[in-house]
Amino acid sequence: MTELVTTRALFDLSGKVALVTGAARGIGRAIALRLADAGAALVLCDIVEDGVAAVAAEIVEAGGRAIAHAGNVTISSENARAIAAGVAAFGSIDILVNNAALRGWVTWETLTEADWDRFMEVNTKSVFFLSQAAARQMVLQRRGGAIVNIASTAAAHPVRWKVDYNTAKAGVAMMTRSLAVELGPHMIRVNAVGPGGTNTAGGPGSIQSGFSPEELRQMGEDWKRRMALPLGILDPDEIARAVLFLCSDAARAITAQILYVDGGYLAG
Ligand SMILES: NC(=O)c1ccc[n+]([C@@H]2O[C@H](COP(=O)([O-])OP(=O)(O)OC[C@H]3O[C@@H](n4cnc5c(N)ncnc54)[C@H](O)[C@@H]3O)[C@@H](O)[C@H]2O)c1
Repeated sequence: MTELVTTRALFDLSGKVALVTGAARGIGRAIALRLADAGAALVLCDIVEDGVAAVAAEIVEAGGRAIAHAGNVTISSENARAIAAGVAAFGSIDILVNNAALRGWVTWETLTEADWDRFMEVNTKSVFFLSQAAARQMVLQRRGGAIVNIASTAAAHPVRWKVDYNTAKAGVAMMTRSLAVELGPHMIRVNAVGPGGTNTAGGPGSIQSGFSPEELRQMGEDWKRRMALPLGILDPDEIARAVLFLCSDAARAITAQILYVDGGYLAG
């Protein structure tokens, strides 16, 4: 029988180093603050340099450890620099949270090939290649690790006017399960969190132009109708709590799972 571990110890990330992408704002920022509060040292990546520096400063001011890395997740050399910076500053990379993504609304008729490529590059391809680079580092360290991909309810239920996003996130969900199978022998767990509509600048507020007020109203109604709990739009920290769980020892036997944090949206 295994010895009883305290609940506090299960969620304690002291001694762990976490790399979080898209950490300058929204859900990525909330994840960074939550993991730092659990004791992890943070490597924060984002294309928005001042934003990511501000979040790193916020963590350090609160007594945590964090460095900011201004970089684009689609550029392998910049990802390699982020990993190297984390190892140089804190000694390892134990957790990767692939959170950075593009979001937007576009109809099947107006979606261009260039937009499609951009979405797939940021939302799917970069998730694989950053995971590959981080997993190489984790394998070298020989002490396992955790990768958490931020998918979306869109991976399971198509959202209107998001054929590119839905497809990209469904790819992330299958990538999560595929990598979990390959990385399991190295004790690297790979899971995903699938948020429902969450209150961020890139979230419900970022609807692109070209839709009529009536179309936007319908979109809001579709969403509300599917919510099982009267929670309304979610708070970014409600997503971050699920990420903490999957990164922690409380989830030690959990891999290849997509945990939807959606207030019941997918059940509706
Ligand atoms: N907000 C929601 O309602 C919602 C719902 C489901 C899933 N999600 C997912 O949650 C994650 C975060 O969403 P959010 O609403 O906080 O988004 P957001 O747009 O507010 O933040 C995304 C962050 O990623 C960064 N980023 C974008 N492209 C990048 C790149 N190429 N390299 C590095 N950084 C880059 C942006 O600068 C930004 O800081 C995304 O994966 C999104 O698809 C969000």
